[in-house]
Amino acid sequence: MADPYRVVVLVSGSGSNLQSLIDHVHEPGGIEIVRVVSSKEGVLALERAEGAGIPTAVVPLAGREREVRDAELAEVVAAERPDLVVLAGWMSILTGVFLDRFPDRVINLHPSLLPSFPGMHAIEQALAWGVQVTGVTVHFAEEVVDGGPPILQEPVAVMYGDDADALTARIREAEHRLVPEAVRLFAAGRVVRDPVDRRRVRIVPGDVEVQ
Ligand code: GRF
Repeated sequence: MADPYRVVVLVSGSGSNLQSLIDHVHEPGGIEIVRVVSSKEGVLALERAEGAGIPTAVVPLAGREREVRDAELAEVVAAERPDLVVLAGWMSILTGVFLDRFPDRVINLHPSLLPSFPGMHAIEQALAWGVQVTGVTVHFAEEVVDGGPPILQEPVAVMYGDDADALTARIREAEHRLVPEAVRLFAAGRVVRDPVDRRRVRIVPGDVEVQ
């Protein structure tokens, strides 16, 4: 049997995107979520992981330097020998102490079409701006918050009369499709970051054999 494709998921909250990964890609021995790490105790995401029989860990920031937290986090994650690390609602800035340990292997999910509306309030800002199209971005995580190159983007229409709840619900639906899709593409070796122009990401078509 081929080795499993090992995925670690980092969470901080409700974990609806983790649930989508559990429902759509997680398969012991296949694309396998080998650990879920939370920045907070007691969050619903941890319950979802436990419900699926996935080992969990909590690595909080409280009361210590970010670099110290990130060193511990890197050890916890590295112990799982991950092929991919997915930030699925991980609400805490990561430093190079963590990111440099997993080059081109950490991806983040953001509820806008970056570079529009980076940061914590992307959906509210899209509404405040009056944009007619917003969306979802899966991108490589880098030290600049929500600043790494996009891997997949999906537009979501903003309807006249939308409030934050209505738009959030539509954005979540798109996220729940896009994150599993990104993980499947990585596992198939179809995500290629250009070695020269590091901002460019190529998705190799499904009918092209991956070298
Ligand atoms: C998502 O909107 C994601 O884009 C953002 O945090 C939210 C996490 O939601 N980074 P959940 O915890 O997966 O339900």
